[in-house]
Amino acid sequence: MDTPAKRLAALASGHRRGFLLAVLAMAVFAGTEAGFAFAVERLVGLLDDASDPWGQWLPVGVLGLFLVRGVSGFVSAWQLGRIGRAVVGRIREMLFERFLRMPVRSLEQRPRAELLSRMLYDAEQVADAASTVITTIVRDSLTVLVLVAYMVYTSASLSAVVFVAAPLIALTARALSRHFRRYSARIQENMGEVSRITGEALRGHRIIKVFGGLARERERFAVANESNKRLHLKLIMARAAGDGVTMLLAAAGVASVAWFVAQPFIAENLEKGPFTGFMAAMVLLMTPLKHLTNVNASLQRGLAAANSVFGLLDSPVESDKARVPPRKLPARATGRLQFINVAFSYEPGGAAALRDVNLEIEPGQRVAIVGRSGSGKSTLVSLIPRFFEPGSGQLLLDGRPLADWPLPALREQIALVTQDVMLFNDTLANNIAYGALAGAEPQAVEAAARAAHVMEFVARRREGLNALVGEGGISLSGGERQRVAIARALLKDAPVLILDEATSALDSRSESQVQDALDRLMRGRTTLVIAHRLSTIEHADRIVVLERGRIVESGRHAGLLALGGHYASLYRLQFRGNSPHAG
Ligand SMILES: Nc1ncnc2c1ncn2[C@@H]1O[C@H](COP(=O)(O)OP(=O)(O)OP(=O)(O)O)[C@@H](O)[C@H]1O
Ligand SMILES: [Mg+2]
Repeated sequence: MDTPAKRLAALASGHRRGFLLAVLAMAVFAGTEAGFAFAVERLVGLLDDASDPWGQWLPVGVLGLFLVRGVSGFVSAWQLGRIGRAVVGRIREMLFERFLRMPVRSLEQRPRAELLSRMLYDAEQVADAASTVITTIVRDSLTVLVLVAYMVYTSASLSAVVFVAAPLIALTARALSRHFRRYSARIQENMGEVSRITGEALRGHRIIKVFGGLARERERFAVANESNKRLHLKLIMARAAGDGVTMLLAAAGVASVAWFVAQPFIAENLEKGPFTGFMAAMVLLMTPLKHLTNVNASLQRGLAAANSVFGLLDSPVESDKARVPPRKLPARATGRLQFINVAFSYEPGGAAALRDVNLEIEPGQRVAIVGRSGSGKSTLVSLIPRFFEPGSGQLLLDGRPLADWPLPALREQIALVTQDVMLFNDTLANNIAYGALAGAEPQAVEAAARAAHVMEFVARRREGLNALVGEGGISLSGGERQRVAIARALLKDAPVLILDEATSALDSRSESQVQDALDRLMRGRTTLVIAHRLSTIEHADRIVVLERGRIVESGRHAGLLALGGHYASLYRLQFRGNSPHAG
């Protein structure tokens, strides 16, 4: 694996010409610094000897010098900025692609805000630090070089006195850099924390309000915010201390020059002009030196951010190693599903969420899955689109192991209404005709909407199906959201249909209406229905009862009732609960 720096360079490799232009511009910029010291030298010389031939050129020269300096500064900032923005854009693009293709497990384990913070904060840090570091390394070190060359040329012995300070500067810079790296990494972690807490507070605002969570949230945020402030302060202090040390060392340089020139044994006879030029160069040296002592801070900051970004980019994607050529797969599966000795647990080595699951579903069959909350119903169906891989055992679709199906081909066969409906911040129509369905005919979308009884509440909205639903469907009621999700599943027309509590939020009347639509939809396709309300699944071809991840009963409604086991007791409980004559 390449180092972060190499990988960054690879990202910027399409910008070689811009980079060379920037380096050239920085070299020119560095040269103008020596030019300035030289101009000072000549200016002082002019005071002694007005007939100096340089005299008439000086005004034009100074203007020209600063013009060149301005242009080269502009060109380098512009080119580096261009490259930096391109790199940020590319990093974000790659991160987004990685997020889309991450396995369900790793997406759900990581706090969402942490991923957001990588995307927003770290990516920015990488580009920012990279352009600072490049500018410093190229421009400031060249500036130091030309200034030093000028000083040595002007007076070798004075230079020798001044440069005793140089190794001292290097040593302090090294001592400070360890702190920089540590604080930078911690600031990144902390940014993730700050955005996590903020995100949670924004999402949970209703609960916070009613359950009096203001103080707790405020407190949690204050802690993270305070530690953010402290870490930044430490970073600032380390950097400022670096500045101070540099200044001190520069002062030591000036002091040694002052001491040196006052010595009676100095035979060297310096003229006023070159001496002033020398002093000017020494003062000019301070800024680039300061940048150079700080460059490590930027470098460490950038490396810490790059490490976290690349770490995320290297995390595995969903495994999709199907070797079966697509032409050998049916374009449309018949929908035969088999679970063979399937076991699964969420944590490796943890409690089993499913075990010994054996289930065969013939094409077109309707199977209901019932069981107490937490018995593993949602887990069971989430293995079918390969959101999770079974720990042992096998799942087959049309007699082929799921792993033989390329993921997109497998998922094409499945329509799904999840337990908590997900709507996108878009129009109703686009939520129904989502993704691969985006090209659907408007009539087909409307037919699906009608069948799912979406049109009933759409009629009340001026924009009709083009009404926006808000983030996560916030402007719809829970039951309305479910109907949109059902319409989406209807429109997909896939051979395998999974309904996880798809009508749980509907009132009995709407439910029986939507149920009619679903009954029509289920005809001719393999359907897995999860329902708490047992009245909705009485007519299923088979009812499977799950208990702590195991199938404990399986059969038809009447048979299971007669059996007098789990199903019968679930049914009795509900019947009593719903019946007005209970008791
Ligand atoms: N992402 C997860 N990580 C760890 N454990 C999980 C996860 N999701 C579910 N579980 C656990 O797995 C078990 C089965 O959960 P599952 O969601 O399949 O239940 P369910 O039968 O669908 O329940 P419900 O009727 O309440 O929806 C539960 O004990 C649950 O705590
Ligand atoms: Mg569930």
